[in-house]
Amino acid sequence: MRTYLVTGAAGFIGSNFLKYMLSKYDDIRIVVLDALTYAGNLGTIADDIDNERCIFIRGNICDHNLADRLFADYRFDYIVNFAAESHVDRSIENPQLFLQTNILGTQNLLDAARRAWVTGKNEKGYPTWRKNVRFHQVSTDEVYGSLGAEGFFTEETPLCPHSPYSASKASADMIVMAYHDTYQMPVTITRCSNNYGPYHFPEKLIPLIIKNILEGKRLPVYGDGSNVRDWLYVEDHCKAIDLVLHKGQDGGIYNVGGHNEKQNIEIVKLTIATIRRLMEEEPEYRKVLKKKELDEQGQIRIDWINDSLITFVKDRLGHDQRYAIDPTKIKEELGWYPETCFEEGIVKTIQWYLNNQEWVKTVTSGEYQNYYENMYKNR
Ligand code: NAD
Ligand code: DAU
Repeated sequence: MRTYLVTGAAGFIGSNFLKYMLSKYDDIRIVVLDALTYAGNLGTIADDIDNERCIFIRGNICDHNLADRLFADYRFDYIVNFAAESHVDRSIENPQLFLQTNILGTQNLLDAARRAWVTGKNEKGYPTWRKNVRFHQVSTDEVYGSLGAEGFFTEETPLCPHSPYSASKASADMIVMAYHDTYQMPVTITRCSNNYGPYHFPEKLIPLIIKNILEGKRLPVYGDGSNVRDWLYVEDHCKAIDLVLHKGQDGGIYNVGGHNEKQNIEIVKLTIATIRRLMEEEPEYRKVLKKKELDEQGQIRIDWINDSLITFVKDRLGHDQRYAIDPTKIKEELGWYPETCFEEGIVKTIQWYLNNQEWVKTVTSGEYQNYYENMYKNR
């Protein structure tokens, strides 16, 4: 049985990855390490934790002693590091926390792995490593900076991050590669584009728009809405990580994206139209709406769910214009391709939110209310 340390698995992508791995493999054990910040929710993975195949440890990836203890207790074969401060807008407000978690947290895990996995030295003085172990860093396309109207990010594109978040992720990538180059540590990195899907925290564009529509609130679009993101359904990202972790080249960096570029304004309009269509087709969904005005047939009205909810607001500072991934390497080397097209993925995502309003309520009670107020009140 192989043992995985998966950090940040109470968050969006990490929880999807945990569920994917547990359902795909019978013969693995996963230890989740998560600090349960505002973005982590134990309820998301409560049904997965059985203290045999899946064990939960609440703790900080920056904690040196905890990391050593976990390595001693569980003898990990793989580490998949999702844990991070992940929201660009928050990084603009509080950069230091991003540097702390994303850079020093990653370095702390690398060092704990080094202490646990090094078996000796070779004749040139390089450490020798336990066989069949690997550290995988979950990174982002934002490390490459911003594109103009043309071109794509390849693995050779120079790192040119602009936000404190992306600068911290680029730094973490460089530290990971430094451990590979200096100590010959077995590592891989994936750099993925924007994910969407179940358990996405409603500070990010798509779940925020869904939540606001259901609550009859305005839909804040930064600037003129022309910024482009390259959207990938989260399960496709999980499949890519699984492949790279087990079959990727040692020291390999792989871009992950599905050639699904859309302007933010398009995403918002598509989300509005899809919610309205689902509610036309399935009137039961209308019960989720906060506004419960009835029409002449006694049905909850949905005619107000239209583009007039959109409000253009002050732009994000240093807002990257366009991200677009060239996924040729992972396709050709590992046979990965995105299995869920956007039209299908957005329907699955919206249906998940319509059916999981309790989850939304839980994760947005408390701190979220202050966050939303501060972030959007003067925009
Ligand atoms: P998220 O914010 O939803 O979840 C982050 C998780 O990490 C939470 O469970 C949180 O409690 C935990 N965490 C935060 N600080 C921690 C610490 N110091 N110690 C332990 N746990 C801590 O993030 P996400 O969107 O799921 O992103 C996961 C990873 O994927 C991140 O590294 C992010 O940079 C990367 N990524 C995200 C996207 C995207 O579109 N969301 C795309 C590409 C890459
Ligand atoms: O590209 C990968 C990155 O995608 C990940 O590394 C990050 O962790 C993840 O948060 C995401 O970053 P973005 O900044 O692209 O995602 P966000 O959902 O915050 O914003 C998407 C776009 O929508 C961006 O251009 C800003 C815009 N936006 C966002 C919000 C929250 C709005 O117009 N209005 C909003 O209210």
